[in-house]
Amino acid sequence: MIKEQAAVDFLKSQIIEFPETAIILGSGLGGLVDEIDIEKRIPYSEIPHFPVVTVEGHGGDLIFGDLEGVAVLAMNGRFHYYEGYDMADVVFPLRVMKLIGIKRLVITNAAGGLNEDFEVGDLMLIEDMISLLPENPLRGKNSEEFGPRFPDMSEPFDLDWLEKAKSAAIRLGVKLRTGTYIGLQGPKLETKAEIRYCRIIGGDAVGMSTVPEVIAVNHMGLKVLGISVITNESIPKVAKEFTHADVVATANKAGKKLVELVKNIL
Ligand code: 6GU
Repeated sequence: MIKEQAAVDFLKSQIIEFPETAIILGSGLGGLVDEIDIEKRIPYSEIPHFPVVTVEGHGGDLIFGDLEGVAVLAMNGRFHYYEGYDMADVVFPLRVMKLIGIKRLVITNAAGGLNEDFEVGDLMLIEDMISLLPENPLRGKNSEEFGPRFPDMSEPFDLDWLEKAKSAAIRLGVKLRTGTYIGLQGPKLETKAEIRYCRIIGGDAVGMSTVPEVIAVNHMGLKVLGISVITNESIPKVAKEFTHADVVATANKAGKKLVELVKNIL
């Protein structure tokens, strides 16, 4: 709480009025930034106790601005557990967001498609999730000021927002899949047997982010919407090698649809 407060105090010295809506931009989805009328860009390195991003394809700043008439805070670049951060670091920015008054959060990510019907470049609305991470951000002494010891996770994604997203997709003519996201530790990709396993237990997409953040914001009672860009297929028949560059390239392309959708949902 003390560290978060230091970050909040710093942000308060930079920003006069905070937005209530935040967006986390996943790998290769930084294109959304171009749509924001930027008022202030603050590199993570300037914010007290903020972790620093290490993965290519990610920026590393907080962007305050206006997206289609809505005041937003965009997190350009996120922290993954596989990079070696503690869970507390991964969710640090979310706790800072809560303290500055953010009420709702759109989380985006790049994910591998498990569902045989999905195609590369599809967008998937995350209706539910499974954590296969070895840890979660709430382990340890509970911070009562953020939320309860045993937070309810029976509806991790806001139902009202899910419905709005579906209607927006229909209006825009954007193909929008729905499904369950499985969060893995990474940074390795899945074996074929792991892919089968993930499918059998109910996953439609797999990725290495999002789950810790969704847990932290559910704990704090924020509204959350999650959207995956399917950047590659990870079904056994077609599982083939792909690189991080492929992921970023596909995400960049699909990012246009995502931008339209997010603008419409907001
Ligand atoms: Cl964890 N797996 C696969 N197969 N593709 C991905 C991914 C994971 N994260 C982004 N794309």
